[in-house]
Amino acid sequence: MIVTPDIEAIRAFRAQHAGTVGLVPTMGALHDGHLSLVRNARADHDWVIVTIFVNPTQFAPHEDLDRYPRDLPADLAKLEALGVDVVFTPTPDTIYPPNFQTYVTVEEVTQGLEGAKRPTHFRGVTTVVAKLFNITQPDSAYFGQKDAQQVVVIRQMVRDLNIPVEIVVIPTQREADGLAMSSRNVYLTPEQRQASIVLRRALDQATSAYQAGERDAQKLATLIADVVGAEGLAELDDVAVVDAGNLSAVEHADAPLLAVLTVRFGQTRLLDNALLPPELNTREGLTGTLGAG
Ligand code: PAF
Repeated sequence: MIVTPDIEAIRAFRAQHAGTVGLVPTMGALHDGHLSLVRNARADHDWVIVTIFVNPTQFAPHEDLDRYPRDLPADLAKLEALGVDVVFTPTPDTIYPPNFQTYVTVEEVTQGLEGAKRPTHFRGVTTVVAKLFNITQPDSAYFGQKDAQQVVVIRQMVRDLNIPVEIVVIPTQREADGLAMSSRNVYLTPEQRQASIVLRRALDQATSAYQAGERDAQKLATLIADVVGAEGLAELDDVAVVDAGNLSAVEHADAPLLAVLTVRFGQTRLLDNALLPPELNTREGLTGTLGAG
């Protein structure tokens, strides 16, 4: 496995190796969610490139850039075991050299949900992802449905800028008790960790209501808020039930819906979502059906 912080080494690898490339962009602190992206890329492509870069431009000044978990040796061991070919580990100066001044901004689908709470976040994500695409030139890139808005935003960027990369979306990986895997779960105290399953419980109840015929987005959102409200350690940050394809507001819909939820446990903000109908929650549903529009 080649591990390199150099753009030139990536370009040389691409020039010297024929065949298809699957890219898995990450910020490291790899868990099974990331590894499921890697396994899918490994199964689909001749070569797999993983990037590990804690991207400063997607963190606001008051956010957790400095304390974001980092463990490069453990990450590399996991990637080596999965047969990854190349790991790109650039420094911030490599990605954002002095006098850097070009950003990629997706206008509409970045406005609501996470974008409303974190106004500069998606500009950082799309800028770095566009750069990583340009550097690695992949055929496909793999993202987790856990960050559902990020998927919609990246898809929009790829469509709008005619970037020839297939976006593959993999269902959220969960701990045994249902908590969505996230590098930020390590911030939780044992009590908060126990309480954190309320996200999944709330989304499961909305899913059951949907399956019983409820199609009123506001009622589904209220149901989620009520479940979270009953958990003493949890503070509801945001909940919305929106069109799953473009994240627009819906009142009463039969088109696929996305229930998104952010909850605070002290300083830690956790995010989860559920697709309605839940049958869409497969690689094919997420990549093909929802990605087609
Ligand atoms: O999802 C993430 O880990 C990051 O937002 C990404 C896509 C690697 C860009 O920094």
